Amino acid sequence: MVDIFVAHAAELAEEGSRRIITHAERGVGVIRAKGTLHAFANHCPHQGGPVCDGLLIHQVEEVLGPDKSYQGMRFDTDTLNLVCPWHGWEFNVQTGRTAGDPRFSLRRFEVIERDGDIFVRLPG
Ligand code: FES
Repeated sequence: MVDIFVAHAAELAEEGSRRIITHAERGVGVIRAKGTLHAFANHCPHQGGPVCDGLLIHQVEEVLGPDKSYQGMRFDTDTLNLVCPWHGWEFNVQTGRTAGDPRFSLRRFEVIERDGDIFVRLPG
């Protein structure tokens, strides 16, 4: 394993801030979401799109009435998704799993904060 420098901690302090690095010809995105830094391969499991460039949005859910009739849609503010810019697949930023099919996940990496700097731990 090798620790790769990503940024100074202050550069990724704000919610939604991100940095995409390239190591060994592979992209890795480090994103601060829901107060935590997450690192994913910048490679969508659908068709390889640059998923870490995508928008962060709250998950949309349908609202059903007591009789199960459709009442509209709303944002689930507990669940934040990363949306792949190519075809819109959504991935839970805390788990890396797709909202639609949990068989597909983003590849995750460990994020390390040390002495005011942020690193991502990648296979050597
Ligand atoms: S490549 Fe990501 S949704 Fe298709």
